[in-house]
Amino acid sequence: MQSIRISAPATSANLGSGFDICGLALANPSDEMEVSISDADAVRSAGRYAVPEELEGNSCGPVIKAMRKDFGIRECLEITIDKRIRPGSGLGSSAASAAGAAYSIDRLFGLGLGAEQLVHYASLGEKVSAGVPHVDNVAPCILGGFTVVVGMNPLRIKRIQASDALEAIIVLPEHGKASTKTAREVLPGTVSREDSQYNLRCLSSLICSMLDGDMEGVAAAMDDRIVEPARERAGLLPHLHEIRDAGRRFGYGVAASGAGPAILLLGRKGSGEKESLLSEIDGLFKEEHKIIASGVSNRGIMPLD
Ligand code: HSE
Repeated sequence: MQSIRISAPATSANLGSGFDICGLALANPSDEMEVSISDADAVRSAGRYAVPEELEGNSCGPVIKAMRKDFGIRECLEITIDKRIRPGSGLGSSAASAAGAAYSIDRLFGLGLGAEQLVHYASLGEKVSAGVPHVDNVAPCILGGFTVVVGMNPLRIKRIQASDALEAIIVLPEHGKASTKTAREVLPGTVSREDSQYNLRCLSSLICSMLDGDMEGVAAAMDDRIVEPARERAGLLPHLHEIRDAGRRFGYGVAASGAGPAILLLGRKGSGEKESLLSEIDGLFKEEHKIIASGVSNRGIMPLD
């Protein structure tokens, strides 16, 4: 095999209390990537959003470097990215590129890596945008569905099939993005016992509700007293409070998507009042924004040919 084309889904990390632990693969948008064995290394943008075209500045770079070293790969790679997940949106844009690189190299060179090894290599790319190799976006991007990081050393991921009854809506302000690195710098170094206990209860309830396919339980569990409040105080999530109030009145759970500015709403499909909720959210914005009826993906990265 000389070349592979894949699609890599957007993802939403944290879901409230699951900071760096939980993530969900979204059905829309997805990037498309082509990775070919070539005479020289190159990254090209071929999509709506431009990507860094030097390997060092692209989240693919550290993945390629590490996999080359570990598996003795000498060939050069040309990567073309049709970037449809807006960079800096909180929807796992850098994770999709990094995960796409890891998955493609595995297939091109017949490495036969397991899911956790792929997630490990892909997470190295997250250092470019976040400063640390967090795995909560790359895991659902590779595996699809809802993923939970249950061990870091060694890395262990549990995947839960997302219920067909789960509806995901993304609210994406057109402007106002901070780097993930900046959004992590505002987080507190210590937390109170009460807040930590509250978050643990939310996290346990979120995971149990996902396992049970209990949409109302999922919505009720999407809360966080540690990470989102710190980012709201730093002015990084300006609309979260109002959207949370509106979403909850309509029975949806609301959380910042990763480090934001995108916001994730989860609820039961066909709940009847979706249009009223969307028009209320629309009215909260003076600036440009998008509302994406995204859906959830249980498939993760897929070859296109
Ligand atoms: N868990 C990470 C964070 C996700 O919230 O910083 C970044 O997309």
